[in-house]
Amino acid sequence: MEKFVINGGQPLRGEVTVSGAKNAALAIIPAAILSHDVCRIENVPTSISDVSFMIKTLKHIGAGVRLIDRSTIEIDSRFVNSYVISHDMTKYLRASYYFIGALLGRFHRARVAMPGGCYLGPRPIDQHIKGFEALGAKVTIEDNAIVEATANELIGNPIYLDVVSVGATVNIMLAAARAQGMTVIENAAKEPHIVDLANFLNSMGADIRGAGTDVIKIKGVENLHGCTYSIIPDQIEAGTFMVAAAATRGDVLIKNIIPKHLESISSKLIECGAEIEEFDEEIRVSMNRRPGKCNIKTMPHPGFPTDMQPQMAVLLALAEGTSIVSESIWSNRFRYTEQLLRMGASITVDGQLAVIHGVEALRGAPVRADDLRAGAAMIIAGLAASGKTEIEDILYIDRGYENVVEKFGNLGGDIRRVYCVEPFSKDSAG
Ligand code: EPU
Repeated sequence: MEKFVINGGQPLRGEVTVSGAKNAALAIIPAAILSHDVCRIENVPTSISDVSFMIKTLKHIGAGVRLIDRSTIEIDSRFVNSYVISHDMTKYLRASYYFIGALLGRFHRARVAMPGGCYLGPRPIDQHIKGFEALGAKVTIEDNAIVEATANELIGNPIYLDVVSVGATVNIMLAAARAQGMTVIENAAKEPHIVDLANFLNSMGADIRGAGTDVIKIKGVENLHGCTYSIIPDQIEAGTFMVAAAATRGDVLIKNIIPKHLESISSKLIECGAEIEEFDEEIRVSMNRRPGKCNIKTMPHPGFPTDMQPQMAVLLALAEGTSIVSESIWSNRFRYTEQLLRMGASITVDGQLAVIHGVEALRGAPVRADDLRAGAAMIIAGLAASGKTEIEDILYIDRGYENVVEKFGNLGGDIRRVYCVEPFSKDSAG
């Protein structure tokens, strides 16, 4: 078992370079199997465990995957020979369900175990299934455990999503890229990684328009070819460093970013009193006083991202005044607030609302990473707090943040990864 040990209280200062976007990579890697060719993908966060799982899954179905350098992979999809993905491959990873769309697109058949991933409340896949069915697939779910989708032919059709879903939008794009005729996704998700997936598929010869708006038109093509493509920078990793800079009252230049993707985060930080300077591919965040309060409501893009909600709550826990955070995407995304209470925060949660009464300081404590972004919030809290914070269950953080110790360490954060013996649990007794 590993944990992070943080000695907090130092402002973060210096420069940090953001990795490629996890959620774009998790859509683009399975998309590569829609070609019978070789795709070279750059700016891939290869050392996060979610990406390792995706690569492992690709190999399992017969793809060749070569690591060219730390952030470039080559996927050879010529010999992909299986449409079956077992529970072993999917249990840790939500995005494993993108193989349903990709395999359906390639083989007109997919048999994929239900996905795992962070628990943020119920995560239904009804909109994915609705999309596959609209394209002519027959979808069954066996024992609530395996999704089987088959189609004689995939035929483009209009699909209206009842909820704005990143996952359903991605999965339908994957299945529709090689369908016959035109698929129109209405009420589509508009996140930067949706646009990135469309750009990747178009570089492979697909014909997709409108990504980034709520109507995406996909004119199916017969074949896709290999390409070289570079993934966009990670909006949420960048946002995490922005909030960490502000919460520790530091001054950080964050490199390899797209400022447009960070607008909702920048504007909230400015509201809290941070200074922000934008450059072409960099953003500088500094804060030299106690943050002010602000209210936040998470929304699909371009609204404030739910994946930044826990990190931002740490800043608000230290703010002067009372802030209200309203979570509108996930029904169970406030579990981390219990950990912040241990550090001296004053937060009350009522359903989808958290009322945060800012305190002057947080103090270090033993805490847990309940999920990926909750874990990022614990790191920020630990760095901003006085004294020692120990974070357990950091495997969640390793799912989505590359070289996190090195990156925060280079900014002057005192954070170490330590190995510890697992405590003797009741389960292992007699
Ligand atoms: N929903 C349905 N039916 C569906 C699909 C979704 O009701 O068929 C609901 C969900 O329950 C949720 C809402 O729609 O209330 C939005 O879910 P969405 O499908 O957009 O989420 P997702 O695709 O499962 C992705 C990210 C999450 C991020 C959400 C929202 C990936 C791999 N995951 O999840 O990222 O929170 O979009 O932006 O792209 C993370 O990176 O830490 C993370 C959890």
